[in-house]
Amino acid sequence: MATNRTFTMIKPDAVGNNYIGGILKMINEAGFRIVSMKYTRLSKESAGEFYAVHSARPFYGELVDYMSSGSIVAAILEKENAVADFRNLIGATDPTKAEEGTIRKIYAKSIAANAVHGSDSDENAAIEGDFFFSKLERF
Ligand code: CMP
Repeated sequence: MATNRTFTMIKPDAVGNNYIGGILKMINEAGFRIVSMKYTRLSKESAGEFYAVHSARPFYGELVDYMSSGSIVAAILEKENAVADFRNLIGATDPTKAEEGTIRKIYAKSIAANAVHGSDSDENAAIEGDFFFSKLERF
């Protein structure tokens, strides 16, 4: 059954380019409510743990280095059909393939520096939200 929450990160490229405001505006205007939000930075170890599901991929080392290279914004978002609707809002992983008007089309530089993360399933949305936020912060 679809839940009404997803998890996102605004990645180091977008934070470094001062795109936080623009991205949050698009998220709000698309009808998502921000449940929890945190400005923080991942250590290499934490980034490795967060992306452990990709540990066998050739780009894993690059991904971990990149995601620990600067500050990020982590957030839990709420909306009906949140996971699928948020993936539509952010567009394809590779920004050259992302549709016009999507967050990655507007703000992303490359497949690694692709501005935002969005959970790919309800199960992962819950796991990823729990990674960053305590039970008290997920009210
Ligand atoms: P995201 O969906 O947030 O989570 C996995 C990330 O791995 C993905 O975004 C991309 O940023 C990154 N990624 C996927 N494919 C590649 C690739 N071929 N090279 C580098 N990074 C990649």
